[in-house]
Amino acid sequence: MKRRDLLMFAGLAALAGCGGPGTGGKGNAGSVRFVNRLRVPPLLEPAVAADGTKRFSLTMQAGRAELLPGRPTTTWGFNGAFLGPTVRATRGDRVAMRVRNQLREPSTVHWHGMRLPAAMDGGPHQMIEPGGVWSPHWTVDQPAATSWYHPHLHGSTARHVYRGLAGLFLVDDPATAALGLPATYGVDDVPLVLQDKIIDGNGALREDPRPTWGLIGDQILVNGVYDPFFEVTTTLVRLRILNGSTARMYHVEFSDRRRFHVIGTDAGLLAAPVTVDRVQLSPGERLEILVEFAPRDQVVLRSVGGDNGLDEGDHDLLKFVAAGLLAPRPAVPARLAAAPGIEVPAGARERRFRLSGSDEINGREMAMNRIDEVVPAGAREIWHIENTVYAHNFHIHEVAFRVLDIDGEQPPAYLRGPKDTVFVPGKSTVRLAVQFGHHTDPTTPYMYHCHILRHEDKGMMGQFVIVEPGTEASVARTLPTHHHHG
Ligand code: C2O
Ligand code: CU
Ligand code: CU
Repeated sequence: MKRRDLLMFAGLAALAGCGGPGTGGKGNAGSVRFVNRLRVPPLLEPAVAADGTKRFSLTMQAGRAELLPGRPTTTWGFNGAFLGPTVRATRGDRVAMRVRNQLREPSTVHWHGMRLPAAMDGGPHQMIEPGGVWSPHWTVDQPAATSWYHPHLHGSTARHVYRGLAGLFLVDDPATAALGLPATYGVDDVPLVLQDKIIDGNGALREDPRPTWGLIGDQILVNGVYDPFFEVTTTLVRLRILNGSTARMYHVEFSDRRRFHVIGTDAGLLAAPVTVDRVQLSPGERLEILVEFAPRDQVVLRSVGGDNGLDEGDHDLLKFVAAGLLAPRPAVPARLAAAPGIEVPAGARERRFRLSGSDEINGREMAMNRIDEVVPAGAREIWHIENTVYAHNFHIHEVAFRVLDIDGEQPPAYLRGPKDTVFVPGKSTVRLAVQFGHHTDPTTPYMYHCHILRHEDKGMMGQFVIVEPGTEASVARTLPTHHHHG
């Protein structure tokens, strides 16, 4: 069969529900040949104002992208047809974003992982009408990390992200820069945005969701490229992996089962590298890893199927092809972050969140005008996420947390770093040590929610405000109802 026919066959097989070669039923393993060069999202150049503020411009727009060869797909993107450029800033920078919405419908842009005032967060309360502009600004004050940005409107986040609205937001800091980690963007410091799609024979993105999860596709794109390869030119490569899927979970490993080093989780570096041969990422999670290569190595990054319901099938993601001569890089450092892990004081406040079904938390659907939790600025608390049903995950805006335990057991060593999103296996309880920030605003909430976007859209989300310590009792729990025009 010719390549295109093969792709068509794979697509039809997937639609027909035929079993793939892998353990989990469907999958693409064996049907991809790694013929397309990996695209690396371009760095977005800021305009630097007289006072040093870095001004970044992002435009949400519709376009057409050739996600599969010869089958142009109608998509959405930032500053282009699909996905968005990489925003990059250093701790201490003042940043000002100019977000234009050229779509025909309202949307928002949320800075997932950024520590900032609630009014700048880009959640469902910061809608941008068609033709409108939103201009949030803040001072970057958090450790180096791989964050990202994506729409976050109530009820339609899954559709907006799935169509292509997502990009990376990298934070640098001097301490991390001094570690000598690979840092040449696109060469030995490479972002990998993993997203699954179902693209039909006409090139249309299918959006029909499955009742429980929403869309789970078998065409996996890396940075918007199907069937990709990457040319390795250095002995050590840093990969910043983002699960940018709406629901699918990945269990990532190399085809030769080589070991690699996890150096960072969602919100920053681990204390020291952790060597593993497989990592998992639920939607919204990020990991930074270091991988050693030898000259002429050829190895496939793949995701193996699991039994959580949202991780079926074995999928080849990306082939690494190493040159005959590799530029040397320093060895993997023995220590990474100087900052201690997140600890909670004795007697810390504990809060409980029960996930049942797929559209509520603690028995309540998300309501735009209801404040569910009031948190004093700078608090450190223990949050219990109790899942009574099938797999979910949990993301908290504006915070960094550490996973204390999963059903009483410590998480794997590579998941003990600072995070903002965590997988919550079916019928299990995850406890988090949560460090809240200092931006107070009693009338503008932040969100916490399941990052399986269909669940978020259906109401598995809640709202919290951060307030001056001591004022908690006087905070109004009901917000005035806003009217959105357009
Ligand atoms: Cu990445 Cu509230 O979201
Ligand atoms: Cu977020
Ligand atoms: Cu969920």
